[in-house]
Amino acid sequence: MKDKIVTDYDQKLSELGIEHSFIEHPAIKEVGDVMNFLNLPLSESSATLLMKADDSFVAIIRRGDTELDLEKAKKIINVKKLQIASLDEFTKLTGLQPGAAHYLTGFKTFIDKKVFENEYVYGGSGSLLITTKYKSEDLIKIPNSQIVELSILKAKQRVLSGIRATGRLHLGNYLGAVVGMLELQNDPAYDTLYMVADLHAVTTPYDKKTLRQNAREVVMDYLASGLDPEKSTIFIQSDIPEHSELAYYLSTVVSIARLQHLPTYKEKVIQYPEGNTVALLYYPILMAADILIYKAGLVPVGIDQEPHLEIAREIARKMNSEYGTNFPEPKRFATKGEYVPSLSGEGKMSKSVEGSFINLTDDLSTIKKRLADAPTDSGKGDKVPKDGGVANLLKFVELFQGQKKRKEYEEQYTSNGIKYSELKDELASVIYEELKPIQEKRKYFETHTDEVDKILEDGAERARKMASETVAEVKEKMGFK
Ligand code: ADP
Ligand code: TRP
Repeated sequence: MKDKIVTDYDQKLSELGIEHSFIEHPAIKEVGDVMNFLNLPLSESSATLLMKADDSFVAIIRRGDTELDLEKAKKIINVKKLQIASLDEFTKLTGLQPGAAHYLTGFKTFIDKKVFENEYVYGGSGSLLITTKYKSEDLIKIPNSQIVELSILKAKQRVLSGIRATGRLHLGNYLGAVVGMLELQNDPAYDTLYMVADLHAVTTPYDKKTLRQNAREVVMDYLASGLDPEKSTIFIQSDIPEHSELAYYLSTVVSIARLQHLPTYKEKVIQYPEGNTVALLYYPILMAADILIYKAGLVPVGIDQEPHLEIAREIARKMNSEYGTNFPEPKRFATKGEYVPSLSGEGKMSKSVEGSFINLTDDLSTIKKRLADAPTDSGKGDKVPKDGGVANLLKFVELFQGQKKRKEYEEQYTSNGIKYSELKDELASVIYEELKPIQEKRKYFETHTDEVDKILEDGAERARKMASETVAEVKEKMGFK
């Protein structure tokens, strides 16, 4: 759907000898969203900024993953004032819609050097429905243009997550948390920190003889699943004492009543009536400290953690307004498996409920046995059950074999009937196939414990640097210094 603006642009680019092609897509305004849609890294995108420079206007082309170094730009352009043109000015001067700027604005154009680092660069076309792909080296042919250095890489958004050190990971932890952790780790727009929450493990009864080993088991599950110390900072929570220190400062803005009403707290008190401790009540404050100490904006965890994130957001808001800190309000990063049901038919999969889980380290016969114990019915009926054992089993089919397979079983249920032994056998094999590479990788780390030590040491060192900066800032803002 090329309109006149794009047709004209096409022609002008050809006349200038700038190699280009056009890619159509639904109407998208943000560069980041276009690149996501095209499945390309932000570093291959570009944006044209129309800037008011003293009393005239200039255009700046910068890469999508960078931001303008304003002071540097002022020096290079040799002006005192430099600011982005208003929407009004932009529309009037370019005749284009906001968000659809292309390279040929008719103004003096400064192209940032980083734009030339990739062979091709993507940018606007004058239409929100079309993106232009340019041969980067041809951009020097833009009339009245100059190559300059005036950008800095955008700070990456920080991500933090953790899992309690209470034993081996199960499919719920994997699908609800680890899969999201992996996705963000592998996206260069994020700086990811992943820890094992051993301080949180002692909020319920535990065995001090196995605490450290349990934390290491989780680390090995992380590494086996694909968490990569080259890309993520991996550490154990208690190795960074600053978490506990910040938690104490944060506790000054949280009321006891707010914590007492949390569903997770109430459940745990019912589960362990003898264990109604201050530490248990304090759990969400420590969790908020884990996140806020790195100023993380995104937290990959299962849906059951949402109430804790709500508290973290409240704490961020209160700290910012009382003490002038700049904590972001952390959001949950959800996965398809944000709620993995229990195999036993009731509630969610959880390591504290025997018969509810499949562990990442289970072999095929264990998985078969666990599935065999999952409750079912006669396999036939007018309506497919919405909850209970059968519903949960179908959820597993959906998660591991896809929506289509689930539909097939649902149809069988209301016609000839499901043969559960076959369903369970097939499901067990599919689950095992997914876990096999993880288990193989785990064996490597089980026999290379010194490598695991080194990863944790390096991770703690990196994390501690970031954490101590935040603690120092908070102490100062609260008046301790
Ligand atoms: P458990 O409930 O088994 O003790 P944790 O509370 O330690 O597990 O949870 C660790 C992480 O795994 C959290 O991010 C949590 O949201 C996620 N998680 C745990 N169980 C499930 C589940 N059944 N479905 C989805 N995510 C889950
Ligand atoms: N509460 C989380 C759980 O039960 C573990 C956790 C502790 C956590 N601190 C965190 C998760 C910070 C995300 C971010 O699994």
